[in-house]
Amino acid sequence: MLARLWLRLGAFLGKTLLWLVGLGLLGWLLSTLWFAWQHSGPVSPDEQIPPGEAAMTQGIIQTAVRIVDQHREGTRYLRDAHAKAHGCVKAQVSVLPDLDPALRQGVFAEPGKTWQAMMRLSNGNAYPQFDSIRDARGMAIKLLDVPGKQLLADQQARGEQDFVMFSHPNFFVSDVAEYAQNVSAQADGKKVMAFFPSVDPRSWQVRHLFIALATLAPPPVSPTQTTYFSVSPYKFGTANAKFRVAPDPQGCPAYVLPKQNQDLPNFLRSALNQQLSTDRVAACFVLQIQRQNPQKFMPIEDTSIEWKESDAPFETVAKVVIPAQDFDTPALNLACDNQSFNPWFGVEAHRPIGGINRLRKAVYEAVSDYRHSRNL
Ligand code: HEM
Repeated sequence: MLARLWLRLGAFLGKTLLWLVGLGLLGWLLSTLWFAWQHSGPVSPDEQIPPGEAAMTQGIIQTAVRIVDQHREGTRYLRDAHAKAHGCVKAQVSVLPDLDPALRQGVFAEPGKTWQAMMRLSNGNAYPQFDSIRDARGMAIKLLDVPGKQLLADQQARGEQDFVMFSHPNFFVSDVAEYAQNVSAQADGKKVMAFFPSVDPRSWQVRHLFIALATLAPPPVSPTQTTYFSVSPYKFGTANAKFRVAPDPQGCPAYVLPKQNQDLPNFLRSALNQQLSTDRVAACFVLQIQRQNPQKFMPIEDTSIEWKESDAPFETVAKVVIPAQDFDTPALNLACDNQSFNPWFGVEAHRPIGGINRLRKAVYEAVSDYRHSRNL
């Protein structure tokens, strides 16, 4: 009698388990299909500005300025993001001599042209920390003496084209509304819970949490040995495109960086110094463009979506060389800190597009002006 009861209970539990596994598989299948359907083309090639974006931007500026106030070092006010530099270096950006005519846009219009440039390499965090801590790494390039009308009406004297990137292909938020919600939750000390704004599972941003975790990556062995992505889209002539700058060791003399002591707080600066200043070896990269194909899922208004290389390849348009140099002096480091890079310092052919770039227009200017006015 007892044995029969046990057998029935066992059979019941076995069936229940099978049902649960089956339901789980069905749920997984349905959510995969739903995700694939939601993330398929075609998409709009034009910007679509949601209502209320400008008002949200003002709130974000106030948070950014508060962060700058909190993290100042002694008497100096640092950047709100990418506060710690590994160095500012001189660089040359040379357009490929045999560039495909379709890729001859903006500052890449003239094949063979070499631009003189400044480059700042950084950690992503809002305040300086040990380089060994997981973080995004930044690269900002400023082409100098660029002719033509600048995008920002009050910056006509600049004559610059900036390319502002970090070391991950996509962003942990889609748009300005999500950025506002996430950053204000983070400012209240909620790190993981910032991605779970309410009890409603439809508001949970699990995929974005994983992007944030992946962005905070272990350090590269040197700032010259990792790839930097624009993350957000830009005009590329009349097309839309993202760009990236990737190491190109074949372009430079062979070099093996001696092993650095990664326990030192600034070992990424030491690595840069070792290569450029001590060993006097140049570092090489390629600058590549990925053009939007609006028939594919390559959205303008969602920076959390990485544009797949299988949908549109990256195409090399220029070579970037950082020549051997001495960059690590007090005067050059101060000049580096006083410099401003901004995706909106540039010309119409490379206009930043999409919500996150519209947000950056107001925020970079406000934060940069704020810290410069206090660092006199
Ligand atoms: C598309 C994604 C983004 C990328 C690739 C990016 C990258 C960078 C990099 C590399 C820097 C350092 C520039 C330098 O070396 O001077 C920087 C600075 C900065 N970023 Fe971003 N960023 C992104 C999004 C954002 C967003 C959404 C905000 C806030 C709304 C923001 C706010 C700032 C600020 C305030 C600075 C400092 C500006 C200054 O004081 O000069 N960034 N960013």
